[in-house]
Formats: sequence, C-alpha cells, structure tokens
Amino acid sequence: MAEAQRVQKLLAQAGIASRRKCEEMIKEGRVSVNGTIVGIGTSATTTDDIRVDGKKVAFEEKVYIMLNKPVGVTSTVSDPHARMTVLDLVKVPQRIFPVGRLDKETEGLLLLTNDGELMQHITHPSHGVTKTYVVNTERAVSDEEIMKLRQGIMLEGKKVQVNAIEKHAPTFIQLTIHEGMKHIVRNLFAALNHNVKRLVRVKLGTLDIGNLDTGKSRPLTPAELARLKKAAGL
Ligand code: URA
Repeated sequence: MAEAQRVQKLLAQAGIASRRKCEEMIKEGRVSVNGTIVGIGTSATTTDDIRVDGKKVAFEEKVYIMLNKPVGVTSTVSDPHARMTVLDLVKVPQRIFPVGRLDKETEGLLLLTNDGELMQHITHPSHGVTKTYVVNTERAVSDEEIMKLRQGIMLEGKKVQVNAIEKHAPTFIQLTIHEGMKHIVRNLFAALNHNVKRLVRVKLGTLDIGNLDTGKSRPLTPAELARLKKAAGL
C-alpha cells in the first residue's frame, strides 16, 4: 500500500514545483484528487489520480544514484550539443536528473534522482547543503592566500564564504562551500591568479564519494539517503 501524504508533498516529490508553490496551486483550486478539487489539508497516495490543471501527475519509484563523473562528460542533460552526458553513464528506466551541476572538466560526486523535492532542497542555498572539493592548482597556494579564502572573496558582488579549508599539500587544497554559483571554485582560485589543474567534488552534504571508481555509479544505501534527507531539511 502506498503511504498517504499531504498532496503538496506528493506534488513536490514528483517534481511539479517546490512544496510552497504546490500549496499555492492547491489554494488556487488547480489540483484534483480522483476527480475532486482539493484543499490544503488533503492527504492522498501515489496510487490516486492526482491532477494539476487537469493534467495527470506521474509518480515513479524514486531512485537516488551517486556517480563519479569523469572529466569530459556534461552534467546538463538537456544540452543538445553535448557529445556525452551523465545519462550515458547511468542507465535506469526512470527519468532522472543531476542534482546541481559540475563543469564538464570537473570530476567527482554527482547525485542523480527523480525526487524533485530533494533536488530542490539540495540546490537551494537556504538549506546550506555543503559541497567539498579537492583542488589541484598549477602553482603552490600560499598561507596568505588560504587566509584570504577563509576571510571570504568577492565574486559577482557577493562575498563567498568557505565553510572549511585545508591545505593537504602546496598544490592540493580541500575546501567546503555551500554557495551554488556557476564555476565557483575555479572563480575563487582565479581571483587569486591561480589556475585549477584538476577539480574533484568529493562530498555532497553527508554523501562521500568514497572509493567509487571514475565513471562508475551506485544507488545510495538507505542509511545514506536518510542522512542526506535530514541534512537537506526533509
Ligand atoms: N566549482 C567549479 O568551479 N566547478 C564545478 O564544477 C563545481 C564547483
């Protein structure tokens, strides 16, 4: 038996919109369950006929897959010019999407799922889900530069704070951030005149890439999923 849940939660999980926006849709009288327009307190299950503006919402089994993305593979699945996207590496029957993006030249942990609500929570900066990267620079990074990163660097008119930074070796820096700007790590280092030779994401929230080989993927364990949801405020 499918579990009864609030309709706005089911809609958000199906990727219709955020839970708040789904609540608005319900208040606007746009959502029906088994033919009846419903109000905000209604519960339903994924076996019910739930419609938004008359259009049936599709509920699929939820999948959560961790991929170690190799260099040269595009993480935007909609790019028609990409030679190879992450979906060429992860074959599942469900329609899944990458949670956030990694540059084509960036490697490491990418989560793919069809859980729209988790995706929104992880990518929205207000939930503060952190990402940890290992940066390999061409030149040695000085302690003064580490200090500058620690104090925060202005990018696009905004001070970017790092949550943690560690120098593993002169050209290997590990840093944790929660901002989601495009090319953020490369741009932080570019602001210090450093060229990034290699960039690897090793953690996303509570997830750790561990010893997953490059190009390989695996489903999250139930424990990993539970921890990640909790960290994302779900
Ligand atoms: N920061 C970058 O510069 N690139 C990525 O792919 C991710 C974070």
